[in-house]
Amino acid sequence: MLVCVVGSGAREHALAQVLGRDAEVVVTPGNPGIEGSTDAPPLEIDADLYVIGPEAPLVDGLADRLRAQGRAVFGPGADGAQLEGSKAWMKALLVEAGVATARHGTFTDAEPALAYLDTMAPPYVVKTDGLAAGKGVIVTDSLNEARNAIGDYLAGVAFGDAGRTVVIEEGLAGPELSVLAVCDGQRSVLLAPAQDFKRVGAGDTGPNTGGMGAYSPVPFVSRDLLDQVAAEFIDPTLAALRRRGIDYRGVLYAGLMLTAAGPKMLEYNVRFGDPECQVVVPRLSSSLTDLLSQAAAGRIESTPTFSDDALVTVVCAAQGYPVAPRVGDRIVGLDAARAEPGVTVMCAGVGSDRDGALVTAGGRVLSVTGRGPTLADAREAAFRGVGCLSFPGMVVRPDIAEAAATTTSKEPA
Ligand code: AMP
Ligand code: GLY
Repeated sequence: MLVCVVGSGAREHALAQVLGRDAEVVVTPGNPGIEGSTDAPPLEIDADLYVIGPEAPLVDGLADRLRAQGRAVFGPGADGAQLEGSKAWMKALLVEAGVATARHGTFTDAEPALAYLDTMAPPYVVKTDGLAAGKGVIVTDSLNEARNAIGDYLAGVAFGDAGRTVVIEEGLAGPELSVLAVCDGQRSVLLAPAQDFKRVGAGDTGPNTGGMGAYSPVPFVSRDLLDQVAAEFIDPTLAALRRRGIDYRGVLYAGLMLTAAGPKMLEYNVRFGDPECQVVVPRLSSSLTDLLSQAAAGRIESTPTFSDDALVTVVCAAQGYPVAPRVGDRIVGLDAARAEPGVTVMCAGVGSDRDGALVTAGGRVLSVTGRGPTLADAREAAFRGVGCLSFPGMVVRPDIAEAAATTTSKEPA
């Protein structure tokens, strides 16, 4: 069986490795650090299953084009991908489905947007409607900053057309949780939950990023909470999608905030999270290839099972990420990091220079994953791996999984 993974990041590297346990895998376009990478476009690759990693090709209808050729595809069509492609569309669907989410308004003009902002209390939350690589969200206590963001977004200055519609919403507080559900159009199965770290700096400081690290399992998450997420969030969303005639086969990634008033949906993504994928998917003890093939065929037949091991991944980012990452620096220490027990290294923003050496080529460069019997062991392994690696200006968040690693739980999920 040949699986074609579409994408070029650490998420796709992790998917390729785990699919590679029982399938042949090619990755397009991949990157020079991912074995099995090919320049051939997906439509020219003759695979038995296509797994589309990033949101942009999903929103752009790649899954539809492949399905039109009779291919088995894991990933929603452009219709379902609107859940991530338009926050306004997603919010409207949540309201229709009765899913708990922050109070919000959607605007294309500054005057009513600023008037609505004035009715909110801090922290102020302003989001681009369209895709902005995880960076189109501002959460701030400063009314001025929120007002300026609204102006810049609507004028197309900050994120081009993605910002010409904005969503303004109530600021929520509480721990965040990523729950990924694999869906076959009719039903869904939950994967092990994860927590990621969105801000660039230690202690949740600095701008939002695509994610600076993640861990799984999450000690404070009980089986009951996961059942609640399935019953009150995922199932009603799938049902609302079906009512709109959408046959959703792919990941529904629920970004939740666990508020004092119960869990609330911050956002849906239509793909595996990055870096959540790097800590969730390798924990599978059942076959990922079978699960995704079944979902692509519209009939999930078994519930996935997970190892008790803990995984922690730490992103090595380029200096200047997320604003203007520095690129073109040689990456040193990959072999040494990979030789450490319990350490794997996934390549994301990685290119090669004229001599074929691997160099930095994007904001998030590497995702270094540690595995062990406890989160503390996994964390120690991940940072041991990071300690072997270097490139000029490398940025790492030192507090990834720090609090969780010192928590003990009777009910690991
Ligand atoms: P999103 O892309 O919508 O998940 O937002 C990115 C990040 O911004 C989230 O992971 C949260 O940390 C933060 N955020 C989003 N919406 C809210 C909200 N309503 N209240 C507080 N923080 C939020
Ligand atoms: N880690 C957040 C995301 O994948 O959107």
